[in-house]
Amino acid sequence: MGRKPIIAGNWKLNKLTGEAVAIVEDIKAKLDTIDSANLPEVVVCPVFTALQSVSNILEHGKNIRLGAQNFYYKDSGAFTGEVSLPMLKDLCVTDVIIGHSERREYFSESDEMVNLKVKAALANDVTPIICVGESLEQREQGITDNHITSQVKKALDGLSAAEVCKVVFAYEPIWAIGTGKTCDAVEANRVIKMIRSVIADVSNSGIASSVRILYGGSVKPSTIEEQMAQSDIDGALVGGASLVAESFVGIITGSMKSRV
Ligand code: PGA
Repeated sequence: MGRKPIIAGNWKLNKLTGEAVAIVEDIKAKLDTIDSANLPEVVVCPVFTALQSVSNILEHGKNIRLGAQNFYYKDSGAFTGEVSLPMLKDLCVTDVIIGHSERREYFSESDEMVNLKVKAALANDVTPIICVGESLEQREQGITDNHITSQVKKALDGLSAAEVCKVVFAYEPIWAIGTGKTCDAVEANRVIKMIRSVIADVSNSGIASSVRILYGGSVKPSTIEEQMAQSDIDGALVGGASLVAESFVGIITGSMKSRV
């Protein structure tokens, strides 16, 4: 199928600079012992204040990429407190998380803002990792598919097929984030296939089959193999388990074992 897996660590609001550097050194040392042909693409997303120091110790273009958890969609100007994509690129950031449920919920990130950010990321040649997912209430009401279809369509609104090709999605059921409750792998795969069909509707099936779609929500070394054994799950966006080098590397290596 040719979709290279991605394992991305979302550190959220955690780790001082020294701690961030120490964990990346540890991850690097562990990955250096593995042939890179047997590794997925790996991304770490520290807090802004640790980006420069982590960037300094990464050999860019090798095993681990640097991601950011947020940014503002304008390049510069009177936007107090914001950070732009050219500023992140200056630190060798290559990937950005957009529309995480925590940003949607606590910081009012709307579908319109998600769309503006996706366009800005693509214009700056940075990979957008677009998060979508339903709440427990929405799942219980049976509106999961409608909700996610709407999130995907709005995120991709106005993009050319060539641009759609470059995005990455992460299906993150909100009820599975940070709860220890993983979504059943078969059900996660069903939703991810549904996301792929929405992508096909707004572009075409060739592009839809090339877009990487990750699963996120309490991913652990013990869950990754079953997840990666599914036909359409192309990797993971990992929160809690990415904060410890051993478990993050366990997920990275596990992701390649059962890849179908
Ligand atoms: P979790 O977080 O792995 O701690 O559930 C995932 C995420 O929020 O991206």
